[in-house]
Amino acid sequence: MNVQWYPGHMTKAKRQMQEDLKLIDLIIELVDARVPLSSRNPDIDQLGQNKSRLILLNKADLADERQNEAWKEYFQSKGFHVVKVDSRNGAGMKTIQNVIQEACKEKIERDRRRGIKNRPIRAMVAGIPNVGKSTFINTFAGKACAKTGNRPGVTKGKQWIRLNKNVELLDTPGILWPKFEDQEVGIRLAFVGSIKDDILNMEELALKLIDYLKARYTGLLEKRYGISEAGNAVEILGGIAKARGCLKKGEELDYTKASGLLFDDFRGGKIGRITLEWAEQEKN
Ligand code: G4P
Repeated sequence: MNVQWYPGHMTKAKRQMQEDLKLIDLIIELVDARVPLSSRNPDIDQLGQNKSRLILLNKADLADERQNEAWKEYFQSKGFHVVKVDSRNGAGMKTIQNVIQEACKEKIERDRRRGIKNRPIRAMVAGIPNVGKSTFINTFAGKACAKTGNRPGVTKGKQWIRLNKNVELLDTPGILWPKFEDQEVGIRLAFVGSIKDDILNMEELALKLIDYLKARYTGLLEKRYGISEAGNAVEILGGIAKARGCLKKGEELDYTKASGLLFDDFRGGKIGRITLEWAEQEKN
């Protein structure tokens, strides 16, 4: 988690993805439902040509339900199969089984025409760090699923998790790299905690988050902290510091502490279900 990316990391991740893609029929791509575009790497579209595609809007429990629906439609309109999930509590897992069959319909039909029977669909999970890949694999595969052994010659060194007689999942997820070239992407990934906090200016980030919440989710900060949203972002952060007793020696407000508290609350879903990128703005 919270990997810092350098060109070397990217090349290695890409090479590994290319190798693993040779083994599979379906890519189960996880995105963070709060930042569905910033948590995606569109290179996957090129890498995954000719594969069946399923996008999971993960952490849907933390995101705005209206936006979850809007993003579902958005990705469906681009030709993806989409399921909203909460990998921590298992919501959405049952639906995935059916959607996998639907997404791989052509392959199943192709196999049937060639007289190949009962060849399971092979899938891999992919996504940028911290989107919930490991959590998803654990929840989806569950403890009941036996791991199949290596298959000499074909899948050397690879472990497959047999989900049922129709589907096998590669047990190591494909790691995609975030699109750091776009500064806004970096900021949104920082908001949701997918970039190491210690390299960021948390106060500056907190002010940006406050501006966003005030504009798009008016009233939530007021409700959470019992403060007024009337002032500017610095005043609101000050209000949070006061309300939560974040003080330095001499009664001076501790903005750093208040920023940390704001992010803990936001990332934990305590302020409300919030989406940081709205689908309506992306329709084209
Ligand atoms: P990765 O393999 O893609 O790097 O992600 P990982 O599964 O490690 O998940 C990253 C964090 O996201 C974990 O929290 C995990 O619990 C949380 N998470 C994953 N899926 C969901 C989801 O659908 N909803 C919510 N609310 N959270 C989710 P953590 O704080 O790093 O660890 P932990 O304290 O939960 O163990």
